[in-house]
Amino acid sequence: MFTHLAHKHVLIGLTGGIACYKIAELIRRLRDAGATVDVVMTESATQFITPVTLQALSGRPVYMDLWDARPNDNMAHIHLSRDADVILIAPASTNFIAKLAQGLCDDLLSTLCIARGNKALLVAPAMNKEMWAHPATQRNIQCLIQDGVTILGPGCGDQACGEFGDGRMLEAHQLLTALDTHFAPKLLANKQVVITAGPTLEPIDPVRVLTNRSSGKMGYALADAAAKAGAHVTLISGPVSLTTPAGVQRINVETAAQMHETVMQHMDQCEVFIAVAAVSDWRVTQPSTQKLKKTTHTEAPILHFSVNPDILAEVAARPQPPYCVGFAAETEHLLEYASQKRQRKGIPLLVANLAQEAMDKDHSQLVLIDDQGSTTWPSQSKQDSAQALISHIAQQLTPSP
Ligand code: C5P
Repeated sequence: MFTHLAHKHVLIGLTGGIACYKIAELIRRLRDAGATVDVVMTESATQFITPVTLQALSGRPVYMDLWDARPNDNMAHIHLSRDADVILIAPASTNFIAKLAQGLCDDLLSTLCIARGNKALLVAPAMNKEMWAHPATQRNIQCLIQDGVTILGPGCGDQACGEFGDGRMLEAHQLLTALDTHFAPKLLANKQVVITAGPTLEPIDPVRVLTNRSSGKMGYALADAAAKAGAHVTLISGPVSLTTPAGVQRINVETAAQMHETVMQHMDQCEVFIAVAAVSDWRVTQPSTQKLKKTTHTEAPILHFSVNPDILAEVAARPQPPYCVGFAAETEHLLEYASQKRQRKGIPLLVANLAQEAMDKDHSQLVLIDDQGSTTWPSQSKQDSAQALISHIAQQLTPSP
């Protein structure tokens, strides 16, 4: 999931709040993703989690004091802000947000924020719902937004004080996603992208369906990568057990007919259409309205099928089609069948893979087929494949002069 954090230098500033405990997990995950993490704490933050814990997890000295003598020139606020690729304040207390909005510098963390120059500053507020709702806090948040600061959250839910409402700091994985998104190149900035994913279900009767083994992993990885690349992503998904990637609008459907109708409703603004769903080719012509009973059907029932609409071919045949990408999972003759499919559907790019190696798996080996022929990519995680494919699609939209 987090492919843009390798070799990045993240400075995390903790201020006073019970949400400090979430930062221990965040630091671990950042290091797993290949990032270097510096930690700066306010005095209040040390009431909630110890510098020793965060030093052990980050593997680097933790800073708290403006007058820290460890840097030779005694200017920790300059070195820490210069070394960082991004600064994240999490948790950001009401008081610290007020200080940031005012430009106050009375400790190491507030001083390095003011000294940061054009370094990106992300702020994850964490406070009681009344403190968050207070007009002063809201005014300060607006000031920070005007100053170019990115506000992450807060979330809504149970609060440590026993109340319920807005003000919960985002979870570690949400902060990780926000940092990863921050570093992703914005190759599809503001593009409207529609992606289909997952299987479809075709009812036989109210309890039985025809479906396939698609897990939706590739489609969801593409939706995630496209959103991180700055696109507005609509994900039209058959039933899967995956979480919706951050920033993606997901619409759940079941049958091919529902997927077809939903896709068509989203085509007017669409600039890129990526059809990853394993759409059922046929549907039962007349599903039974009641459960078929073994006792009344002593013989096995005979099902009659109708052909489902080919969503991708129909989109590609529009007078002004979006850039269309199809997927083909074949069990044999991969190149031959996939090339024929590209021609038949009239699309510029078809991505082929072997069904037995890709369906429900975490890795895939993609073969890209376009006007120029075919290119086989190395086997890699679906996240890496998705990111590479989004870069490739972005290049097709803006061909080099
Ligand atoms: O025709 P076939 O299912 O082999 O083609 C696969 C590609 O076409 C995939 O991109 C799939 O999402 C899309 N497709 C579709 N509507 C269908 C069948 C397939 O959009 N009814």
